[in-house]
Amino acid sequence: MKQVTVTEHLLLHQKESPMATGRFTSMFNELILAAKIISREVNKAGLVDVLGLTGEVNVQGEAVRKLDDYANAVLIHRMQRAGVLCAIGSEENADLIEIPDHLPKGDYILIFDPLDGSSNIDANVNVGTIFSVLRRKEKSECAARLCEVLQKGYEQVAAGYFLYGSSTMMVYTTGRGVNGFTLDPSVGEFLLSHPDIKTPERGKIYSVNEGYWSFWDEATREAVSYFKGSDNERGKPYSARYIGSLVADFHRNLLYGGIFLYPADMQDPKKPKGKLRLMCEASPLAFVIEQAGGAASDGERPILDIEPTELHERVPLFIGSKRDVEKVVEIYRKHKK
Ligand code: AHG
Ligand code: MN
Ligand code: MN
Repeated sequence: MKQVTVTEHLLLHQKESPMATGRFTSMFNELILAAKIISREVNKAGLVDVLGLTGEVNVQGEAVRKLDDYANAVLIHRMQRAGVLCAIGSEENADLIEIPDHLPKGDYILIFDPLDGSSNIDANVNVGTIFSVLRRKEKSECAARLCEVLQKGYEQVAAGYFLYGSSTMMVYTTGRGVNGFTLDPSVGEFLLSHPDIKTPERGKIYSVNEGYWSFWDEATREAVSYFKGSDNERGKPYSARYIGSLVADFHRNLLYGGIFLYPADMQDPKKPKGKLRLMCEASPLAFVIEQAGGAASDGERPILDIEPTELHERVPLFIGSKRDVEKVVEIYRKHKK
């Protein structure tokens, strides 16, 4: 079968778009290299633990920083050297990360969650990396200021994620549909495996941490009950699937059809807008889902329409099959009246 690499895909399928510039492609290649390095470490994590128990490995257990930090360090180091960025934002860093003076810069801005679902890593459950690419509006030689970075999700030039699981996958969009690639470890290339992904109009899965039920407001309980009950468009309950790694829950629902919900947590006054971050989690996945025919909302507005006020702003997130997200928005609107 003709194998299509990401680079080839970017050049061939985006040729009419500004994305196919060499600079954009070289940024993607650096991002892919970082993901391959992270994937190798994620897959080895179990091994290290096992070996670590027999004491056969050196203090790597202590020396290897937590996988979040490791993935973060790999991404920052690689992407600072991509030569096309003017700023980096990471879930793990409070402030923007600058590109050192001696390194070449460009107009792109990269925001990422280096390791999503990290609480699952010790149980060998899928984890991922989520990324969002923006572009500064005005040409400049200096580092991008925060105000240049805080752009609406609709402004993204690319977004996607890597999923480290039974195989390592990359799913991305540049605004011309969604395509999935699977890493062939024997050649170290991501090869096109899921061309032009479209998500079903209405799903059959709902993903939410129901442990928070007692902390939710009436609207949220009604929304979740819609999917649990039979009084819905399906005429029967949706299947409950929740892994606790957003990327893995999102990816399954993207392919099979479904909705992922992370509502506001009344329980925690520190997180009245829920746990998930707008710029490095909700916004990139919202770009992907809309390009795949789905939807993403904070319960009132499309995620992509929200103007960030800070780098680590959190939002409630309802994302997946269009009809299911629309139903949640309808329920919230009814309760707002
Ligand atoms: P991260 O590991 O980047 O902090 O993200 C974890 C997130 C997300 O992956 C997942 O959907 C959610 O946390 C699970 O939260 P709960 O444990 O509260 O359900
Ligand atoms: Mn995350
Ligand atoms: Mn994370």
